[in-house]
Amino acid sequence: MRRKIIAVDGPAASGKGTLARRLAAHFDYAYLDTGALYRAVALNVIRKGCVPGDTSAAVEAAQNLDMAQLDAPEFARSLRTAQTGLAASIVAAEPEVRAAILQAQRQFGETPPDGKQGAILDGRDIGTTVCPNADAKLFITARAQVRAERRWKELVGEDKELTLANVLADIEARDARDAGRATAPMKQAEDAHLLDTSDLSIEEAFAAALALVNG
Ligand code: CDP
Repeated sequence: MRRKIIAVDGPAASGKGTLARRLAAHFDYAYLDTGALYRAVALNVIRKGCVPGDTSAAVEAAQNLDMAQLDAPEFARSLRTAQTGLAASIVAAEPEVRAAILQAQRQFGETPPDGKQGAILDGRDIGTTVCPNADAKLFITARAQVRAERRWKELVGEDKELTLANVLADIEARDARDAGRATAPMKQAEDAHLLDTSDLSIEEAFAAALALVNG
């Protein structure tokens, strides 16, 4: 039987990760945070002593990406920092980096791990490029100021120097780069449902997302 695929896209800190995880738990589907793959590529480039704009270092890191690395606690913590997010959006603009990790994402959707009956992938181009035939597509958004506040609250515990203004500037720079790149830019698929979570609690957003997925 063909497995179900749910695509969840949207800009930084829109709430798509939380919603995608909740939906995966609800349906007992496998979940893939595709942003973590780009973050991991960026972190590996930086840890090699290269800059994220170094195309050949980024392509090599993408071609050698080991998914198991994402579960190591220290690596996983470093993935979430604002610096890694920004670096991720730089490596993610490189077409060869995207090509190197495309198949692994599609494979996850088509053959989810642990015998799950479906998969939920979240990212920027899931509904448009990775899984254009997904059974349900959501595009999650929220006002930039609201997204910055959410992300600042998430990160300030680990980085006391971080200011809300810095987070907002990072998010806006990242959104512009993600939406403006030539290859697989962040874009709402024509058949995706738009959900603005600016004025919704997590519970309300989850209920709205579930209603859209169940159609
Ligand atoms: O969690 P947050 O929304 O802040 O970001 P993320 O989903 O972890 O993604 C980090 C970066 O990876 C994004 O800013 C994009 O540049 C890139 N990305 C992408 O290009 N395509 C995807 N499918 C997922 C992430």
